[in-house]
Amino acid sequence: MAFKCKIIVLACVIALSASQGFKNSKRKPASPAPPARAASDPDTEITSSCPEDGFFADAEQCDKYYQCSNGEITEKLCPDGMVFNDYNSQDEKCDLPFNLDCSQRPKLQTPIPSQHCVRQNGYFPHEEPHECGKFFYCVDGKFNMITCPEDLVYNEKTGICTWADEAKKKGCGAADIFQFKCPEVNETFGLTHPRYADPDDCQFFYVCINGNVPRRGGCKLGQAFDDVQKRCEWARKVPECKDWYKDRLTDAELDALENPPVAKPKPSGSPSRRKPQRPKLGKNKQ
Ligand SMILES: *[C@@H]1O[C@H](CO)[C@@H](O)[C@H](O)[C@H]1NC(C)=O
Repeated sequence: MAFKCKIIVLACVIALSASQGFKNSKRKPASPAPPARAASDPDTEITSSCPEDGFFADAEQCDKYYQCSNGEITEKLCPDGMVFNDYNSQDEKCDLPFNLDCSQRPKLQTPIPSQHCVRQNGYFPHEEPHECGKFFYCVDGKFNMITCPEDLVYNEKTGICTWADEAKKKGCGAADIFQFKCPEVNETFGLTHPRYADPDDCQFFYVCINGNVPRRGGCKLGQAFDDVQKRCEWARKVPECKDWYKDRLTDAELDALENPPVAKPKPSGSPSRRKPQRPKLGKNKQ
């Protein structure tokens, strides 16, 4: 291996990658630095070195890779914002960087920004820091704004919407998102993740993670959070919420919700999954 490394940078990288199964391979050539590194044009050094046909990651730049075909090597770049997925040398694959480890080859091409897109492809947070739950999905430099489900915060590290306390976005913590402050409790009780009714909305409640970080949860339509039993219950059975749905649902509709008609067996072939029902009603905050 040391001998190979002295010949040429890329060959060494490829050999290391191939022999160690890529995942934890050291992509930087082993020291001492091969003399070839000192040459003026790095591209001319590598043109003659193709160990086998396939696609190989660059040693330093996560979105650069090489194609070896019949002993010919071609340098390639992923679309801006994507990085080379080196799990299988037979696949030419660029992906968004979320599940790929670029820590060993951290360089990237110069970004090509466009409106709302830091790079041509990827997920990017909203420019306004207080727009906690909005982000942009960019494809070829064209953006789509995406809004997280209510109360969730866009998490830059994972590219998905998560709880405020998990996203850890500045200005978007649980205390910024919710008007609710968890009551002080002792540590033992805090570990039970106590729940409290949302003071502004019968249908909702807060779970205080470890007693101090609020997350908002909802009961299904027709129900209210019973702050005595600490669970969801049909609103009409919760004294302080018995009229909560009055101006939105008739008694007959509430009856139907409380006693759903027995479902007939579905004809085969029809999709059995119901869409999750997230009622738009019951929000009168702000
Ligand atoms: C903690 O608080 C709970 C609920 O208020 C109480 O029942 C419990 O005795 C307290 N425990 C301690 C160790 O103070």
